[in-house]
Amino acid sequence: MAKGRSQFVCQNCGAVTSRWSGKCESCGEWNAIVEESAANPLGGPKTSPRKGRTVTLADLSGSEPQAPRVLSGIAELDRVTGGGFVRGSAILIGGDPGIGKSTLLLQAAAALAKAGERVVYVSGEEATAQVRLRAERLGLSDAPVALAAETSVEDILATLSGERPALVVIDSIQTLWTAMAESAPGTVTQVRACAHAMIRYAKQSGATVVLVGHVTKDGQIAGPRVVEHMVDAVMSFEGDGSGPFRVLRTTKNRFGPTDEIGVFEMTGLGLREVANPSELFLGDRDQSSPGTAVFAGMEGTRPLLVEIQALVAPSPLSMPRRATVGWDGNRLAMILAVLEARCGVRFGANDVYLNVAGGLRIVEPGADLAVAAALVSSLSGVALPPDCVYFGEVSLTGRIRPVGHAGARLKEAEKLGFGSAVVPEAVVGDETRGRALGVQGVAALADLVADIAGGRSRPAADGNRVSGRGGQKTLPAGARTQGSPDRPAWPQMPDDEDWVREA
Ligand code: TYD
Ligand code: MG
Repeated sequence: MAKGRSQFVCQNCGAVTSRWSGKCESCGEWNAIVEESAANPLGGPKTSPRKGRTVTLADLSGSEPQAPRVLSGIAELDRVTGGGFVRGSAILIGGDPGIGKSTLLLQAAAALAKAGERVVYVSGEEATAQVRLRAERLGLSDAPVALAAETSVEDILATLSGERPALVVIDSIQTLWTAMAESAPGTVTQVRACAHAMIRYAKQSGATVVLVGHVTKDGQIAGPRVVEHMVDAVMSFEGDGSGPFRVLRTTKNRFGPTDEIGVFEMTGLGLREVANPSELFLGDRDQSSPGTAVFAGMEGTRPLLVEIQALVAPSPLSMPRRATVGWDGNRLAMILAVLEARCGVRFGANDVYLNVAGGLRIVEPGADLAVAAALVSSLSGVALPPDCVYFGEVSLTGRIRPVGHAGARLKEAEKLGFGSAVVPEAVVGDETRGRALGVQGVAALADLVADIAGGRSRPAADGNRVSGRGGQKTLPAGARTQGSPDRPAWPQMPDDEDWVREA
């Protein structure tokens, strides 16, 4: 394309069009199309076509050393990166404004610098004095971090060429600009060109480059998704801004796992690592109210107990509200549908709210059983036993499907003093036997509903008990005598409440 010609680029998805329009054809976003110069968007030098040279083709086999890593010294951060920053890699960290990205990276930079590594921290958002003040507040003023407040990529690269840093932090990628692209800073073209230049620097120099990225209103890292494809790892720093807890999560990692999380607490002295997050997420729960269930979850290799809170309240609306915080709304709709269709529990005239306590976001389907327990408990007004944990996936047929790591989940619950667990029937076996806590296997969601309604969801601590098929002794007398597998009969409710449809 000739230099000086314009193109129109959607700032949401990066689609390029030849004319402006109010709505992006490819992603549907309104008012996101901006005119940018079409000249050489990646900023590579313009050269006349040259003859290619042959490259040596290699075999897949052959021993490669493990990727060399630098430990940041912050255990929760190293867990998420998969054992430290990989030299020569580029990492993008996104998160809401004020969540603590700059604080985390300054702490990591200081820890590395104190360990004797060369660290350069480039802030495009704050002046040097502001970063110094923050370091003072964090008690890190004595760490030998090299600091710069700069936004020009050319100047940053020129400065870095005289150094051999192990870590370069760029806070943030949206504030950078390069003369190689002609658009305004923050536009897709600029962000892409700047990210490209910094990633190329990382590969050439062997330094780890950490880029901070802003997120848009709906939680995506601002700028084109293409930056996420360019970097080696993408992390998001999440949390409920009003609470102290923060979770660092990987969504992409070319050198490590993507299911690990790092848990931090924001204190007056910066971010503190939380080594036992279960204690924290269960901190001050209200044990006697209906509508709460403790989910024994897994985040990567680490078990994590969290409280699921449900509120089912009569709705004044013709279209009752369903709202979730920390859980997938579609998944809630599915659980409600299964409860209605397979267990005869009616939610139709009620608003339903679901919340994961502590600002955590759960993506594991293993939380289904705990969610269902909390929903039924709230609807029926029957509080669940406070020392009971739940895990298991609910299928559309109403069966409870097994989930992995049952042993680790139960061990964590035991460690925190829980006395019983309700688990999928299929995982009851060697892993669950001989434990200090009582394990109850459930085969179908209807069994759980019956148990909650009968106030019997507390298995004895002396062994495994199975309800449902072959284990009907746990159900209220006569509860399932007329049912068929497709259409089970409904248990008698304690005081004949109208929340269960007549069979
Ligand atoms: P910051 O790291 O600037 O967030 P981001 O870079 O993600 O925008 O964090 C700012 C917030 O953290 C601010 O609301 C104040 C709070 N904070 C503390 O509570 N304690 C501290 O020691 C520091 C440095 C910040
Ligand atoms: Mg910041």
